[in-house]
This record gives sequence, structure tokens and C-alpha cells, in this order.
Amino acid sequence: MTSLNLFSEEESLQPLPLGPQAVLLRGFALPLVPEILPALDAVTKTSPFRQMLTPGGRKMSVALSNCGRLGWVSDVHGYRYARADPLTGAPWPIMPDCFVRLARSAAEKAGFPGFEPDACLVNRYLPGARMGLHQDRNERDLGAPIVSVSLGMSATFLFGGLRRNEPAGRAVLHHGDVVVWGGVDRLRYHGILPIKGPPHPLLGQQRINFTFRKAE
Ligand code: SIN
Ligand code: FE2
Repeated sequence: MTSLNLFSEEESLQPLPLGPQAVLLRGFALPLVPEILPALDAVTKTSPFRQMLTPGGRKMSVALSNCGRLGWVSDVHGYRYARADPLTGAPWPIMPDCFVRLARSAAEKAGFPGFEPDACLVNRYLPGARMGLHQDRNERDLGAPIVSVSLGMSATFLFGGLRRNEPAGRAVLHHGDVVVWGGVDRLRYHGILPIKGPPHPLLGQQRINFTFRKAE
């Protein structure tokens, strides 16, 4: 992959534009981390992390859970949103209030006021786990942005174009960083390089990512 140094290694706390309607908000989630971590534990106690199959029948390297009215699931039948956790048969855990506040305030800061997520996909990456370039396009409402929160180990985020073969820029995401993309950037291809590097002081050898969506 071409490594355009589009986003440079900008580590200031200024919002860093990744596109006309895409922005990296460094450290935006940090003040809420003390509330988020216990809420996350409660979510994954009810709906544990599990590795799902891709439509091609391969096990994803990332393990996932969800909270909110809808949860993103994948199996040999395809990708979709489901009201119940296929593992437990019960509804997904309610989206914790601190999650909703974080998603709303990050969206607003990025220029998308009034964001009301109904789905929060929680991804867990252990060292070596990755996410290939893809678009988030299973949502009915593409007018709403995606709000993506990083916790734990750092990761290299790839942010490409509207077509898979366009070169992707890179940005290293750290604990507490939030990326928001919507509008003309809503369908940009994105992914995560295999996780490596030192463990995180609070979360150890893992990276957790939330992506908030308005699915329907
Ligand atoms: C995703 O695109 O679902 C995850 C992105 C990330 O882990 O930062
Ligand atoms: Fe995605």
C-alpha cells in the first residue's frame, strides 16, 4: 500500500482534518474513560466478545460485541444489523449513557449536531489482529456520521477514498482518540493495520474500538 504521509505525525490536540467532513479529535474521549471502562465491562459481561465469520467463511481476527438497539453481525449469510445477540438470543445491552454522550459530543464537535446512534459496535483487537479496508455501508441512514473511539494500544488507521484501489492515508490512533467521518466522506474505505507495540498501561495487550452508527 502506498504510504502517503497525508496526515503527518501530527500529535497536537488540535482537531486534525482527514477529509472535508472527516476529523481526528485527539484525546477527545479521555475525560470519559473512568465512566466508559466499567460500562464497557458490564456490556461485555452480558454480550461477550466473540470472533464472527466473514461471508466468505473466514474467522475475523477481531472479536466483537455490540450495545444499543441494533448490533452489527456477520456470518456466512452476510453482514447486517440484528436486534438480538446471536450468541445469547437476548437483545443487545442498552447503550450506556456515557457512550451516548461521548458519541453525540464528538459528532457535534465534528460538525454533525443531533447525532442519535442506535448501534455501537465494540471491537477488540489483540496483538496481530487487523481490519482490512472496507466501507461502512450497512446503515440505512448514510446522512449520519460514523463516530469511532480508540482505547488501549495504539493502532495505525488507514483512511482511503471512495474506491477500494485509491491510496489510503495513515494516522496513528491512541488511547482516547476519536475519529468522525460523515457527509462526503461517509463512504470512505478504512481499516486498521495489524496491532503491535507496547501494552497499554490501563488496558494491557489489547485495543478496544467503538464505532457508533445510526443503523436505521
Ligand atoms: C471499524 O471500521 O469497524 C473499526 C475501525 C477501528 O477499529 O478503528
Ligand atoms: Fe468500519
